[in-house]
Amino acid sequence: MTNLNAVPFHEKSYWEDRFKREKHFEWLLTWNNIKSEIIPFLNVSDEILHVGCGNSTLAFDIFESGYRNITNVDYAENVISYMKSVTQKREIEAKINYSSISWYKGDCLYHLQSYLPKKVYPVVIDKSLIDTIACGDDDNQSRVKRLAAEILSVTETDGHWFSVSFSSEREYHCQMNADTNNVYHWKTKRKIPIQVTQLNDKPGAPPIYYYLYINQKIKVT
Ligand SMILES: C[S@@+](CC[C@H](N)C(=O)[O-])C[C@H]1O[C@@H](n2cnc3c(N)ncnc32)[C@H](O)[C@@H]1O
Repeated sequence: MTNLNAVPFHEKSYWEDRFKREKHFEWLLTWNNIKSEIIPFLNVSDEILHVGCGNSTLAFDIFESGYRNITNVDYAENVISYMKSVTQKREIEAKINYSSISWYKGDCLYHLQSYLPKKVYPVVIDKSLIDTIACGDDDNQSRVKRLAAEILSVTETDGHWFSVSFSSEREYHCQMNADTNNVYHWKTKRKIPIQVTQLNDKPGAPPIYYYLYINQKIKVT
């Protein structure tokens, strides 16, 4: 049966319409919530790829922690133009040089590499992009597998994909044959529950958790 009230999170037009009105919304968790788990894996010179960036301030927050090279991608053209203007405004107001933060329109499900300035990245971050992709998926999770494969193709060997989701049951299955001798896949090394405080929490309300998955691109032996 079709659910007439379902929000079409998997449709690009939904996001483009939303970004006409919405200037900032931070999905699930902030950089402050997750940085202690991610920073141990980062080098200051790492090129960080942030996929499904929306109008989140994550790139600026990561920058403030000392990481300079952050490439952001989203398929909604209007949010990319908007985030470029936000970057310029912040540069003027805060007198900070953000030239190492870049914004690209690109579809993370199809030929992701073709939208990017670099071939591979040591670090990829998605914050609830995976949830959006999972909406409207089939029983085989074809869209989630496709996302996992696209991100695998733009990640360095042994590089990491940090994925934030509301679901405790995400799976990052996919396999990539670089050539006949080299096959890669994602190994989920950790799934970290992060408790969130809701503004309207009542005394005795059950705790709510979101999840940070730490995946590593591994050569299959
Ligand atoms: C739930 S929002 C998360 C936004 C941001 N990461 C945050 O945490 O606030 C999902 C974002 O993914 C983008 N998105 C959805 N499907 C995409 C795709 N196939 N390729 C690129 N971006 C996509 C949407 O436009 C939206 O900005």
